[in-house]
Amino acid sequence: MKISMVSSRTKCTAGMVVLFAGSITKKKDPEMTWLSHFPSELDKARITHNMPSHFKGDAGQSLFWRAEKHSPAILVLGTGSNKKLTAENARVCSATIMRVAKQEQLKSVRICSPSSLAANEAAIGFTEGLLLCDYKFTTFKAPDKNDVAVENIEVSVDKFSMSLNKIVETNAIIADATNFARWLGDCPGNFMTPTQLGQEAENVAKGTKLKVTVWDKKRIEKEKMESFLGVSYGSAQEPKFIVMEYKGGPVKQKPFCLVGKGLTFDSGGISIKPSGGMEEMKYDMCGGAAVIAAMSAIAKLKLKINAIAFVPATENMPGAAANKPGDIRKARNGKTIEVNNTDAEGRLILADALCYACEQKPGMILDAATLTGAMVIALGNTHTGFFSRNDDLSKKIDRAAATSGECVWRMPLVDEHVKDMKGYFADLTNLAPSRNAGSATAAAFLEAFVEKDIPWAHFDIAGTAWNVGNRLPYAAGKGASGAIVRTFIEMARAYK
Ligand code: BES
Ligand code: ZN
Ligand code: ZN
Repeated sequence: MKISMVSSRTKCTAGMVVLFAGSITKKKDPEMTWLSHFPSELDKARITHNMPSHFKGDAGQSLFWRAEKHSPAILVLGTGSNKKLTAENARVCSATIMRVAKQEQLKSVRICSPSSLAANEAAIGFTEGLLLCDYKFTTFKAPDKNDVAVENIEVSVDKFSMSLNKIVETNAIIADATNFARWLGDCPGNFMTPTQLGQEAENVAKGTKLKVTVWDKKRIEKEKMESFLGVSYGSAQEPKFIVMEYKGGPVKQKPFCLVGKGLTFDSGGISIKPSGGMEEMKYDMCGGAAVIAAMSAIAKLKLKINAIAFVPATENMPGAAANKPGDIRKARNGKTIEVNNTDAEGRLILADALCYACEQKPGMILDAATLTGAMVIALGNTHTGFFSRNDDLSKKIDRAAATSGECVWRMPLVDEHVKDMKGYFADLTNLAPSRNAGSATAAAFLEAFVEKDIPWAHFDIAGTAWNVGNRLPYAAGKGASGAIVRTFIEMARAYK
């Protein structure tokens, strides 16, 4: 699908024209500035008179019709009484545009961007929204003969400049990366094994300045990552530790560092999960997927920064050699951990990855993980919760998320949570004494593996990594969402 920005004076040849109307109170007295966008071949008066009365231009309303055989179909989208529209409005509108275009099997669309939406916001929002809506997970399905691809979308604005197409290019890379993370997440566990995830990281790096190294079990043993390894012992799949490096900044710049949970299937291990809904645990690598995808975008955008990423990848299975409740493992930094619940495995694999990340002396570490069910209880699938004791970093995260359009919410992390993770037989336990504030105690556990002076934030994407379509029109109803990819990319773009 090709998206381009054009001047509103450019002749329109598309099969469908998309117009926008603000809320109107009286039919005879509408603020129909959008009528001026109509292609001249359409009879304005006739359309005005034929306008169905239910359509008031309220946000979320839409009106579709074909005027005549040879004229384009018309889709009018309500924008409500908002004076100023944002990129997020454009993302939301994109969902209706793509749905109608697909339904009507229209290959080309002209979107006449409303004047209440700044041209750069239109370029960002429509590019991302349209591409995110164009994603469908079909890898393991016979092709759908009725599925006609939308080939060409032009977004016209009054104040056109060439730089708008540069924005389209940038945000297409960001949307493609998000869709790539979604694809990694949607793939089933029998295919997206730790080995395959490493392979995908290598593949996506081809033709870019990204260097990818995938450590095998032997190397992981040599690196003394026993906490990570312990999780893998119950599985027939070999664990992998994925390392991605990108050098685009000054030699002396401390790297921007990402860490992601790459649990390709979480059965819970010996502390096995209930069978209902267990198939969703293929998504337990979505943190790792987000990190791999964000790194690919950093390289494709040729950002002038240094960046590194680490993804510990394994299954959590109840095999004969699996972690048993009560087992004690020693992490890379020498701290010992009582594994009192084998299902709290994400923190175990991240512990070693965070130790290793700190040794690289990064300027900041951001980690993403589908870490706790408690996160879903706390924030549902609306916000990704993040934990950081660093106010300055937290402000940067809020700013980046405001730009990316993702909803994030800062959560508390205090010494009380740290106390809960003290072990009885070992330095730490992976299981807090109570389920309360379960995502905060998990964050406190991770903190034990991060050096104090390194700005660090942990993102628990358990609620937002999949099935968010009920709240986000531009996400699939079912399937991975690519949560936090766009915010991580914005953090990288703002990194100094
Ligand atoms: N991957 C799960 C967390 C999860 C659960 C994410 C549901 C999304 C939806 C994680 O490994 C896990 O099982 N955590 C346990 C920890 C508990 C045993 C302390 C949980 O949250 O129940
Ligand atoms: Zn688990
Ligand atoms: Zn898990």
